[in-house]
Amino acid sequence: MSGIEELRDFYERMPYPPPLTSLHEHRELYKNPERRRATFHLTWPFAPFRENLEILIAGCGTSQAARYAMREPKARVTAIDISETSLRHTRDLQRKYDLRNLELHQLPIERVRDIGRSFDLVVCTGVLHHLPDPDDGLRALRDVMRPKAAMRLMVYAPYGRAGIYMMQEYCRRLGIGASAEELRNLRATIEMLPPTHPVSGVLRNAKDLERSEAMADAFLHPQDRAYTVSEFYAWLDRCGMRFGRWTEQAPYLAQCGVVARSPHVERLAALPSPLQHAAVELFRGTMVSHSCIAYRDDDPDASRIIDFADDKWRDYVPVALPWTVCVRERLPPGSTAVLINRAHRFTDLICAVDCFEDRLLGAIDGRRNLTEILQFAGQGDDANHRARSFFERLWRYDQVVFDASGCAIAGELEAKISFASAARAPSKSSCPDGSTSS
Ligand SMILES: C[S@@+](CC[C@H](N)C(=O)[O-])C[C@H]1O[C@@H](n2cnc3c(N)ncnc32)[C@H](O)[C@@H]1O
Repeated sequence: MSGIEELRDFYERMPYPPPLTSLHEHRELYKNPERRRATFHLTWPFAPFRENLEILIAGCGTSQAARYAMREPKARVTAIDISETSLRHTRDLQRKYDLRNLELHQLPIERVRDIGRSFDLVVCTGVLHHLPDPDDGLRALRDVMRPKAAMRLMVYAPYGRAGIYMMQEYCRRLGIGASAEELRNLRATIEMLPPTHPVSGVLRNAKDLERSEAMADAFLHPQDRAYTVSEFYAWLDRCGMRFGRWTEQAPYLAQCGVVARSPHVERLAALPSPLQHAAVELFRGTMVSHSCIAYRDDDPDASRIIDFADDKWRDYVPVALPWTVCVRERLPPGSTAVLINRAHRFTDLICAVDCFEDRLLGAIDGRRNLTEILQFAGQGDDANHRARSFFERLWRYDQVVFDASGCAIAGELEAKISFASAARAPSKSSCPDGSTSS
């Protein structure tokens, strides 16, 4: 069997992720329109929000394409997969929820050009690392991206998966297959492993490993490779792609979490981003995957980045990520709140907020830009400086994304801002230091 036939055979027998019969939870989540807006600006900070996108889900598995079609009702979603079993599960969801904006094709990614269309957004998660030639797959996807398109990409990372690769090798040596009995025995074996085995940490964090399909996908996969941060950047580069951002960036940054307290923080922070992220990957030691937003390398907008170097940050509109939570109990001294992004796997990535910052936090409504929000900070250079650092920190810690589509008219906006915005001030509550906060 060729690599691709072997892969198809595997996913026909063991479709992944374990199939869903209901999208109810997903539908409820996306009733909040801010969720769609936040995801849009995570992907395209400099573009105005729009919903009529052409989306390609490449290697859609059992439910991803149906989830996208449901949450993006104004988009046209095209999905491809080599596994007819996975497509059948997707078709069942399509029928059940009457998803007319979804089109399915049994087609390998390597032949995606055959569809004869181009896309605004390509989603490819958990797939390319399984291909016999991942470069070939990534280049094929790049070729169907429109000039300003974005790609949401996820591939495995090696250090956190070391235990998985050991157990894959163990299964290969013993010739373990994917029959129900062999999977039962494999589960029993894995439960006997010492708690210090490198696979134990992965198992603790795995959501679905009690399902046979997930067990098979992790331990019996015929083809599976992983990318370090450096390999990942080099891979994008040689396939004509440009790195945009990590979907969750805090785990890669020297300024976030425990890394920020390391005696090496200054050296780390002085490195160019790709080298810094590669070093922080080594520091963290247990990353299991990398998820990023990437663009075509010939997209001139792809080089625009969110930064706070000059004054354009004043035009950014912060949009809070709806999957973050604000905790107001058992706080560190001097804090009025602690912010947590539930997508972070590392528990040190909490963002503590003091009373001054809390006032600014309460002014974020997804509409006000930072100039308007600064009205809540009080006057003076110090207040301005603290406010700017706070928003940079919120952004680094994946608490907000920015709608920076107004940046083109920088300067004009400032002139238009009236103090009427003060009338829309958030409600106030008392802070420990006696001042007020929202
Ligand atoms: C691990 S699943 C991920 C599914 C989905 N992307 C998700 O995140 O839920 C990998 C999927 O990629 C599909 N696949 C593997 N190789 C492929 C290829 N060359 N072309 C298209 N699909 C492929 C498999 O059939 C399987 O459904």
